[in-house]
Amino acid sequence: MSKRFQVPHIASSEITPESVYLRRRQFMRAAGAAALPLLAGGTGAARAAQTGGAPLDFGRPAPDGGLRTDEALTPFDDVTAYCNFYEFGTDKGDPERYAHEMSTDPWSVQVDGEVARPGKLNLEDILGSFDLQERVYRLRCVEAWSMVVPWVGFELAALLRRFEPTSRARYVSFETLYRRDEMRGTRSFTSTIDWPYREGLRMDEAMHPLTILAVGLYGKTLPNQNGAPVRLVVPWKYGFKSIKSIVRIRLSEKQPYTTWQALAPHEYGFYANVNPQVDHPRWSQASERRLPSSLFKPNRIPTRMFNGYAEQVAGLYKGMDLARNY
Ligand code: MTE
Repeated sequence: MSKRFQVPHIASSEITPESVYLRRRQFMRAAGAAALPLLAGGTGAARAAQTGGAPLDFGRPAPDGGLRTDEALTPFDDVTAYCNFYEFGTDKGDPERYAHEMSTDPWSVQVDGEVARPGKLNLEDILGSFDLQERVYRLRCVEAWSMVVPWVGFELAALLRRFEPTSRARYVSFETLYRRDEMRGTRSFTSTIDWPYREGLRMDEAMHPLTILAVGLYGKTLPNQNGAPVRLVVPWKYGFKSIKSIVRIRLSEKQPYTTWQALAPHEYGFYANVNPQVDHPRWSQASERRLPSSLFKPNRIPTRMFNGYAEQVAGLYKGMDLARNY
C-alpha cells in the first residue's frame, strides 16, 4: 500500500490481535473531511473531492476464511480510475470524471418486501449501527480484468436480519439511485439499459458471510465512482452483481429482474458465478488481466473457480448444473 493512503487507525489495529474483532466508533462525520489533508496526486479539485473521503474506523478479520487475501493490492489510483458505472458513461474513465455530479447526502436505503418490519435506514444509521470490517477481496469483472480491493464494510446478513425476513423470502433484489440530471450516462441516446440498475441474489447467497455492503475502500468512505455511499460486494461472482449506490433492497419469493439478464440473457445469467470453464459467448473466461496491467506487462493470470472462494461457497450450488445456471 502506498504510504499516502495509509490512515492513522491502521497502526492502532495492527497492535491489536487480529483475531479480536474491533468494536469501536464506526464513523467520523464527513464534516471533518474538509479539514483533512487531501490526497496527493495533483489531478485537480474535482478529483480530490471524489477521493478525499472521510476516514472510517474498522476492525480487521483474521486472514482466513477468504476474508482477506494476501495478494498484492491494486493501487488506489487504478481502483478509482478504471471503473464500470454506466450511469455515468461507458468509458472506464467516465465514472471518475462525472460521478461527482451525483449527490449522496442525504442518503437512505428502503428495505421492504418479504420482511416483518419494512423501513428505511438513513446513511448515518447504517454507519453507526453495524460493525465495520476491512475485507480484502478479489474483484473479477465479466470483461476478464480483475483487481484486489481493500473494502470497508459489513455483512449484508446483519442488515437483512434487522428487518426480519419472512419465511417466504427466497431472493433479495437491489436498486441503484436513478437521477437523470445527475447521471449523464442515463441521458445518453446510445444507452439501452432500463434504469435503474438492478441486481439480485438468492437468499442464501445474500446471507453468506462473504457478502458485504461496502461503505469504504482503502480506509476511507467510498469515492462516488466506486458506488458511494453504499454498494454490494459479492466476491465470488462477476463484478456486475456488485451493484453500486444502493437505494432499495427488496426481499421476494420470486427470482427478481436483473439489468444484465434482461439486456442479454444468453450472455449474462442470474447466478454469474466466476467460472473459468464456462466462457462468455464472445470471449474466454479462462484467464484475466490483473490490474494494474499494460500492453507490455499484461499481468495475465488464470481465473479460479468461484474467483478463488470455492472452499467457502461451492456448497451453495451443490447439484446444480453451473453451465446451465451461468
Ligand atoms: N452498479 C451500477 N449501478 N452500475 C454499473 O454500471 N457496473 C458493475 C458493478 N456495479 C455497475 C454497477 C460492474 S460491470 C463492475 S465490474 C463493478 O461494478 C465495478 O466496480 P468498480 O468500478 O468499483 O471496480
